[in-house]
Amino acid sequence: MLKKDFLWGGATAANQFEGGYNEGGRGLATSDTKTNGSLTRKRKHSFLDENNQIVYLHGSDYIPQNYKSIIDENMYYPSHKAVDFYHHYQEDIALMAEMGFQCFRMSISWTRIFPRGDEETPNEEGLKFYDKVFDECLKYGIQPVVTLNHFDMPLYLADEKNGWLSRETVTYFLRYCETVFKRYKGKVKYWMTFNEINLLRGYDTLGVHEMNQQRYYQAMHHIFIASALAVKKGHEIDSENQIGMMLANILTYPETCNPKDVELELNVSRRLKYFFSDVQCRGYYPSYILKLLEREKIVIKKEAHDDEILKEGCVDYIGFSYYNSGVVTTREDAKSTLGNGVKMAENPYLQESEWKWPIDPIGLRISLNILWDRYQKPLFIVENGLGAKDQEEADGSIHDDYRVAYMRDHIIEMKKAVEEDGVDLMGYTPWGCIDLVSAGTGEMKKRYGMVYVDMDDEGNGSLKRLKKDSFYWYQKVISSQGEDL
Ligand code: BG6
Repeated sequence: MLKKDFLWGGATAANQFEGGYNEGGRGLATSDTKTNGSLTRKRKHSFLDENNQIVYLHGSDYIPQNYKSIIDENMYYPSHKAVDFYHHYQEDIALMAEMGFQCFRMSISWTRIFPRGDEETPNEEGLKFYDKVFDECLKYGIQPVVTLNHFDMPLYLADEKNGWLSRETVTYFLRYCETVFKRYKGKVKYWMTFNEINLLRGYDTLGVHEMNQQRYYQAMHHIFIASALAVKKGHEIDSENQIGMMLANILTYPETCNPKDVELELNVSRRLKYFFSDVQCRGYYPSYILKLLEREKIVIKKEAHDDEILKEGCVDYIGFSYYNSGVVTTREDAKSTLGNGVKMAENPYLQESEWKWPIDPIGLRISLNILWDRYQKPLFIVENGLGAKDQEEADGSIHDDYRVAYMRDHIIEMKKAVEEDGVDLMGYTPWGCIDLVSAGTGEMKKRYGMVYVDMDDEGNGSLKRLKKDSFYWYQKVISSQGEDL
């Protein structure tokens, strides 16, 4: 059996769910300048160049210096309205309560609290909004699980301060963390610092112009320090706080037993995943990264006490997302590639989603075991789910048996990891429990929810909420503590 206080719930993020982008004194965030990229499958970013011309980027990270991000009135920006949780929070939390949620993972929008990022005092209206959200959750006995930073940052800090490349950003981030830790003391106990810390690469998440390897590792160092300081501060403010990291846990397999494939997989999983969890769980840079930095002549500028800060700011638990696995290969003729030119092969044993993500429930059990063996820290599955197109029937019903099948198969494997392998698992929060905007493509039609939201890729729709078949199924799963699948 899963433990008694196992947290069943669902997960969202402010920039994909909340909307109200210019309400309540909120400032612009990097995510607000990204337009719908469903046509190119990549998100676009618009800005003014030195000659005051609007420039659109299509999924590229290259942004010249001295530009200013802009909102172009002729473009559609999905995050501006998202699915309008800002005005629907009572209805949405009531739906979560009806499903039996014991927790709700969400993120705070940094610019609702500090609109530019560098202010001395927070925006009271922004703080009040989250007071209302948390109070509403607690009314139903739902524990908020709060991500402090989910894929965006204040636009001002990105454009004027060079984002996470600047050490100053650490100070501003900590001010924001301290503010929310103090304000929501007694209301929020579960926190996570940076969403999918191992996937922060683009301008929107790092706020860094003209990215290169040197800048990347420097910006990441600042993020590690910011996370560690936030963990320390959070514990000082409330010893009850549980503060975790958040890892994008893409499981990788070597294509064959050729030792070269196995060796490649080891290196890929370290560089793409374990580097980040090693630093945040063990409190120091692993030797394989120190050697890599040395080889590549990358020198991270550190301050005097940085090593101590990392040691003292280890996380309490590991939150992670799990959607799929991937196959790495040394075969030259393999077609698709993962970042850094790593060759990826198809997995002939797995089916894929409509968005070509391999579906691999057993990979979840394997992932849980690897992380548990490596760190012996409690684990929390804070994202999992199937992005799929849904069809609303004439009577308003939505028959998403494919989603139920996906979740059922993953929950079966999750339970095996707990019941047969003894993994310490805190909870399960499937992604986008109420439909929201896709992070990867800006689409609405890539839906994950158990609640349907009437909204399309261009922002048309009544925003009405409808219960899908998966809603009733998940309700039963929660009430039976995962026994009735
Ligand atoms: C994770 C992110 O990468 O996966 C979420 O934390 C994201 O923000 C989710 O939405 C699913 O990805 P996508 O691209 O289908 O929205």
